[in-house]
Amino acid sequence: MTTTPNFPAMPASSDPMPTVQAPRGLHVITWGCQMNVYDSARMADVLRPLGYGPVERPEDADMVILNTCHIRERATEKVFSELGRLRKIRDERIGNGQDRTIIAVAGCVAQAEGEVILSRAPYVDLVLGPQTYHKLPEMVARAARAGGAVIETDFPVEQKFDFLPTDAAPQTQGNLTAFLTIQEGCDKFCSFCVVPYTRGAETSRPVASVLAEARRMAESGVREITLLGQNVNAYHGDDGEGGSATLAGLVEQLAQIPGLGRIRYMTSHPRDVDQSLIDAHRDNPALMPFLHLPVQSGSDRILKAMNRGHTADEYRESVRKLREARPDLALSSDFIVGHPGETEEDFEATMQLVRDIGFAMAYSFKYSPRPGTPAAGQPMQVPEDVKDRRLAELQALLREQQDAFNADMVGTVQEILVTNRGRKPGQIAGRSPYLQPVHFDGPDHLIGSTVKVAITTRRTNSLGGTLIRETASAC
Ligand code: 5AD
Ligand code: SF4
Repeated sequence: MTTTPNFPAMPASSDPMPTVQAPRGLHVITWGCQMNVYDSARMADVLRPLGYGPVERPEDADMVILNTCHIRERATEKVFSELGRLRKIRDERIGNGQDRTIIAVAGCVAQAEGEVILSRAPYVDLVLGPQTYHKLPEMVARAARAGGAVIETDFPVEQKFDFLPTDAAPQTQGNLTAFLTIQEGCDKFCSFCVVPYTRGAETSRPVASVLAEARRMAESGVREITLLGQNVNAYHGDDGEGGSATLAGLVEQLAQIPGLGRIRYMTSHPRDVDQSLIDAHRDNPALMPFLHLPVQSGSDRILKAMNRGHTADEYRESVRKLREARPDLALSSDFIVGHPGETEEDFEATMQLVRDIGFAMAYSFKYSPRPGTPAAGQPMQVPEDVKDRRLAELQALLREQQDAFNADMVGTVQEILVTNRGRKPGQIAGRSPYLQPVHFDGPDHLIGSTVKVAITTRRTNSLGGTLIRETASAC
């Protein structure tokens, strides 16, 4: 699904560098957000010079990495249950006379619960937080030497992005779409969220570093990039001239890279939707008209309790301006029902906001108390059955809106980035500006191009259409 470049120069370390070895199997299990997908690909990259290449099954792997997510409930239990499964696989391999599998736990659960993991699952070899994946080769070497578990959950002073490669990006070879992390961490401290504790303070990558990676991606064939960040529109990377760039400024520079025809970004925060970003949606055709803008709640009282820093009307106003700038813009969002203190009236305000805006897509969740976050300790927790009912009601409305949005596509002409062959002979497939899969008849050589397709049918999870024009461009 994703990208990324070759192995960086190693961080300065007193440990000797592991040498290149015979091919070894690497199996990475990724849970959670797109940033984890990106990080998993990066971990695969940093391990490649040690001889590790991807294998489909953990049974065939010399190393398994479990890249975890801590955002919602039962995260830790899920990790232990998966680790139990991996341990069995390892034991079977040892029984068959194969090498002992290295088991690594990465990501946000590793960050938050590293010590607990090592004490409850002492058979785990490596535990590493999201800011330390560049240290993996060194950790593997240390574990091999010490014969015990190695843990790295500090927030290092050096940025992992500083260890990016300078050569081509083999992981993106053959991929037409890729993720690119430009910003990480969060200082906003929403009442319910673990991210500021697991991913650390907000940091932005310098413009030059982002542009270099994007160029490598484009050269390897990527046509569409999704810029990632926990608060991607708070981006303020060093512009190399003593100042900092905004997301809008960065997008403008990225759009000039030959081949990069489509740019997306996620996840954005309503507080950071500024005029420059609204203008970019008006002026920059490379910026796709599909925006993920989580609102969480439509009640001002709950938004305040959540520490979101904006009101429901301010959200409506930002959406109005965005739609004025880019009339074909569609929105997706995240919602939480049952935040502590949420009344029926508050919930109705959320339903009203959904009716007012009309979302093309949305994710909705029951509030789950996360240890160490302010909301977890608040009184007036909402009973589970009430959360269940509210979630069902909200999801029914959101599903209705999503269906209507997809149905409205029929009869329109959309630009489709052709990404692969379709299932049926003679068919090709791609994605619309709104990330809908679209199937239609056409020649294979169009893969990698953007073409105009008349949408004629809607299926459960995709659209069908007729090719009306082959554009010559590769993007
Ligand atoms: N409970 C439920 N949902 C949550 N999210 C984040 N933390 C929690 C929590 N404690 C949701 C938010 C966020 C998305 C990534 O996950 O909606 O935008
Ligand atoms: Fe979490 Fe809020 Fe930061 Fe988003 S803005 S990562 S929800 S704390």
